[in-house]
Amino acid sequence: MCGVVGAIQRGGGVVETLLQGLRLLEYRGYDSAGVAVLEAGAISIRRKAGRLERLEHSLSDGTLSGARAGIGHTRWATHGPPSDENAHPHTDAEGRVALVHNGVIENWAELRAELEAAGVRFASDTDTEVLAHLVGREVARGRELPDAVRASLARVRGYYAIAALAQGERGPRIVCARSGPPLAVAAGPDGVYLASDVLALIAHTRDVVFLEDGDVCELELGRPLRVTRIDGTVVDRPTRRVEWDPESAGKGSFPHYMLKEIHEQPDVLARTAFDRLRLDKGDVDFGVPGFGDHELRAIDRIQVVACGTALHAGWIARYLIEGLARIPVDVDYASEFRYRDPVLAHNTLALAISQSGETADTLAALRLAKTLGARTAAICNVVGSTLVRESQATILTHAGPEIGVASTKAFVAQVVAAFLFAVRLGRARGVLSLAQGKELVSELRLLRPKMESLLGERAVSEVRDIAQKNRSQRGFLFLGRGINYPIALEGALKLKEISYVHAEGYPAGEMKHGPIALIDPEMSILVVNSAGPLAEKVRSNLEQVRARGGHVIAIGSDRESIAQSDEHVLVPECSEWLSPILNVIPLQLVAYHMADLKGLDIDKPRNLAKSVTVE
Ligand code: M6R
Repeated sequence: MCGVVGAIQRGGGVVETLLQGLRLLEYRGYDSAGVAVLEAGAISIRRKAGRLERLEHSLSDGTLSGARAGIGHTRWATHGPPSDENAHPHTDAEGRVALVHNGVIENWAELRAELEAAGVRFASDTDTEVLAHLVGREVARGRELPDAVRASLARVRGYYAIAALAQGERGPRIVCARSGPPLAVAAGPDGVYLASDVLALIAHTRDVVFLEDGDVCELELGRPLRVTRIDGTVVDRPTRRVEWDPESAGKGSFPHYMLKEIHEQPDVLARTAFDRLRLDKGDVDFGVPGFGDHELRAIDRIQVVACGTALHAGWIARYLIEGLARIPVDVDYASEFRYRDPVLAHNTLALAISQSGETADTLAALRLAKTLGARTAAICNVVGSTLVRESQATILTHAGPEIGVASTKAFVAQVVAAFLFAVRLGRARGVLSLAQGKELVSELRLLRPKMESLLGERAVSEVRDIAQKNRSQRGFLFLGRGINYPIALEGALKLKEISYVHAEGYPAGEMKHGPIALIDPEMSILVVNSAGPLAEKVRSNLEQVRARGGHVIAIGSDRESIAQSDEHVLVPECSEWLSPILNVIPLQLVAYHMADLKGLDIDKPRNLAKSVTVE
């Protein structure tokens, strides 16, 4: 949602450190941004509605450049519209305390009424300002900042990752805390740092401490990081090494992160899968507990929970697991699962899929499944994330940091992980023979050059032509069947997210039950069809579209569909089980080029944020 950073460093220049961090976290929210720094014991604040460049510009006068300690924020609005007044940091009325916050304070209205009744005047519409006043009041009563934060948080209900500064302290000190959204802290050779995403820390050090819910951490130069619970009890949190390379957080020579991430997908396949394949055994070894024969034979049903693109990977997981391991799989929107009073069968494994591992609905759904007696597992991209910490077993996807708000490489990694899991389940349960296992894992090995061919210059320029010819169309319908039906959903989601055009994904066989009424020449129909048992069925749906004057774009390895289409992308042949991994690439590129041709902000689409840590 929002990005939170903080730093105290030995030399000056903390403003540049905060801005560097905010640039890396801008994908988390980009409505407004701000910083508060301590200089000679006094707090100075700059904050601006709009993109980070506006804040950077306002800081370019250099007046705060000597400061050594500060906190910063990039916002995705929840309470009050994006404006200078609602931008963080917020302060108490006397400006004693500055505070930044990611999350939602649920009892803010009640606390605000109480403070107003006591004469406090508010300067913003935000829930966060309530907390700034509470902390300020505790400081005014003589408490030191850590105690003031702990006492204030004890009164708060909701989700938060916060960082606070106070003026007049004996030395620069920052106090941060988390309950819900992620927060990590680190002590490097030149200073101490905090951030809501390790991306902003790895430029300083790769040794990071992930705070847990209910933790409050005190950061001071020259002292070990001190972590307590809200009641003041000191706790020990391990330092973990983050293997991500700081370079991977850059765009390289690509104009957008999304394009770079699409092009990384062949490598993501290799990183997520190849070391885990056991070709001689026709099997997969995850190298972590939770995936042994005995454990996997004890599963009678699987419940997948996820949101957005990760949910589409979950739908694919269903086809894979039911097809290769013959275990029944239910898939649900995490936001629906958590409130529909679900009934779980005995021996259910709840499988949560998430890039960030911090999506509020997915976490809540997993926790609910756990209380209903399910075993839990995760497919996740972020080491140390809440989902990984709370799941009994995890398959890490090795997609590397994904910065583009529209998820691409993380999706491919999730589908690869689901395929690996399905093969492992199938082998553990004796559903897949040695020969079948060998064939499947060998097919996966062969996929990389096929993915690369879809990213070659010729293929990419074909897709750009398609985007060019279709950019003025009124709407888009994406159709697919079987394991490629979720790819239709994903193609439509990508187009909506970054091109702002109406697009729907549908099972091809459902089209005649309603959406067919939409078809006319101003409607483009993207038909995903791979050679395989359902190809003929999809072809007849394609004919139904043509008969009604729809503009057909065929994507896939089925050559007859290609011959019947107005435009097409021919995808290399592969096992039907793996075809989604290839078919999604042209669809991602169609969305990308459509948005690019329209001059839209591809990496920061309007109204969206990368990680949705509130309901
Ligand atoms: O971090 P997660 O995978 O849990 O995020 C889930 C969704 O919010 C995410 O996939 C979202 O739909 C993306 N913007 C899709 O491109």
